[in-house]
Amino acid sequence: MQPTEMSTERRSPASSWWREAVLYECHLPSFRDGNGDGIGDLEGLTSSLDYLKHTLGVDAIWCGPFFRSPLLDQGFDVSDYCDVEPVFGSLAIFDRLIKHAHERGLKIIVDYIPNHTSNEHPWFRESRSSLTNDKRDWYVWRDPRADGSPPNNWTSETGGSVWEWDETTGQYYLHSHLVQQPDLNWRNPQVRAALFDVLRFWLDRGADGFRIDVAHMLMKDPELRDNPLAEGGNDNPFDLQHPDFGTQLHVHDRRHPDTHATLAEIRGVVDAYPDRVTIAEIEAMSWQDWALYFGSDHDGIHLPFAFRLLETVWTAADLRRELSALYAALPPGAWPVLALGNHDRTRLVTRLGPEQAKVAAVLLLTLQGTPCLLYGDELGLADQSVPRERQRDYFGLAEGGVSRDPTRTPMPWNDGVNFGFSTAPEDELWLPLSRVGATVNVVAQQQRPTSHLALYQRLIRMRVASPALHQGTIDLLDPGGSDGDGSVLAYVRRCERDVKAVALNLTGEPTTVVLPSAGTVVVSTSAAIEGQRTGSHTRLEPHQAIVVDLPQKDEWP
Ligand code: GLC
Ligand code: CA
Repeated sequence: MQPTEMSTERRSPASSWWREAVLYECHLPSFRDGNGDGIGDLEGLTSSLDYLKHTLGVDAIWCGPFFRSPLLDQGFDVSDYCDVEPVFGSLAIFDRLIKHAHERGLKIIVDYIPNHTSNEHPWFRESRSSLTNDKRDWYVWRDPRADGSPPNNWTSETGGSVWEWDETTGQYYLHSHLVQQPDLNWRNPQVRAALFDVLRFWLDRGADGFRIDVAHMLMKDPELRDNPLAEGGNDNPFDLQHPDFGTQLHVHDRRHPDTHATLAEIRGVVDAYPDRVTIAEIEAMSWQDWALYFGSDHDGIHLPFAFRLLETVWTAADLRRELSALYAALPPGAWPVLALGNHDRTRLVTRLGPEQAKVAAVLLLTLQGTPCLLYGDELGLADQSVPRERQRDYFGLAEGGVSRDPTRTPMPWNDGVNFGFSTAPEDELWLPLSRVGATVNVVAQQQRPTSHLALYQRLIRMRVASPALHQGTIDLLDPGGSDGDGSVLAYVRRCERDVKAVALNLTGEPTTVVLPSAGTVVVSTSAAIEGQRTGSHTRLEPHQAIVVDLPQKDEWP
């Protein structure tokens, strides 16, 4: 298959599907098992498309990695980029997923993991085999320092040095994550060419775009200089997957200025195919640095994740400060992608409690930007500790490491066997089931208007129907709440005649908010008040969020 049409001009971002879409992150091994072996797979995902499209109403699915892999990092350790790990299916099953998704108007976003491979990838096997192998320079190999110690002080995300000694050739290789995930050398043109071919392989098969793993890490300091130590600790919470990682300022091992030219090259490959999107995982950073990932003149990433928001302390004042800085930094014509949870982070309900998790849903689905939901968050699924003998995440098995398995337990579909996730015996499931799956599951929640799922459904329907919400401007309102106590975050979204005000009570106390005008509640965390008129001075109950349809601005008092 070849692209039917080559796009020569850069598309106007204003007209693209991904600006108006709601994205859904499915974590494949935990989503739905199609063949009864206890592990979620592409077949299970294909059989869930009607749920995603019609019950929930999302537009695009980011699948999670399904490439050949020893699965030490849930598939982010790839041993063949151009084949499907048999546990997840086959290329034919992937093709069927694309066909069924496209028939329903759903887009499929594939993971692109360019920073590192598995140590079982044939490229790495070759590279490590001798100093003179053709692929030696495909990875980052260095001699020890004079005293035999590793080439520099960089620490890996899983703890300890990024350097692993390799007896075969008497050199160290670099791994920013697990020892079994050697970093590719993106300064080598053959590596770039091979990784660009990987993009074309999935684009030719019909993938609608990529979520680029650790996009900020591709380019490192060419001299591999030591990172400065962070005397008072490294205050980037995204770096704290392992305590070691916070002991230094990661200025030379990531976010090198050359990263942007590399991402623009990736974008160039993707842009040869019409209507595809690039989404980048980049760590939390200043909004000014984040804005650089859109590239100059939009030649970078379409949608760089705005992860600072995910780390923001859950108060109206903190959110307001971060959101106003985000929108101020957004380059003209650019559009953010927003997430309040993902497969690496504590789930919303665990972080904020069930009531504020609903407020968070209203926030995510009414902000200006493409929202990305994590599977299970639409049910209010919580983290659940996983006994060590059932853990899958090798990050957690590293000494002092943090397991991300608690976030990744199976999706509960109904109150049947294994809550509909799989027909395998419980102890063969990829991860243990949620303890509350008997009530927190899709079928049970569909029947309850006060459920998380019912709220997500109403929010997504409203967003789709409202140009103000899916494409409009945003104006943050002055800090709200009774007596200026800062309990409320409020903003107005507008697109021509469609105007919506959103007010979120971030506390457990009742409060009031002043909106620009009276209006009608369209969606609320309290379903009972939907459809009711509300004055411009509006009372908000504890943990209550409202979206209010307002008249046009010239009719405001
Ligand atoms: C990204 C992924 C994470 C993975 C890491 C290494 O941060 O989100 O799950 O472990 O990259 O690929
Ligand atoms: Ca399976």
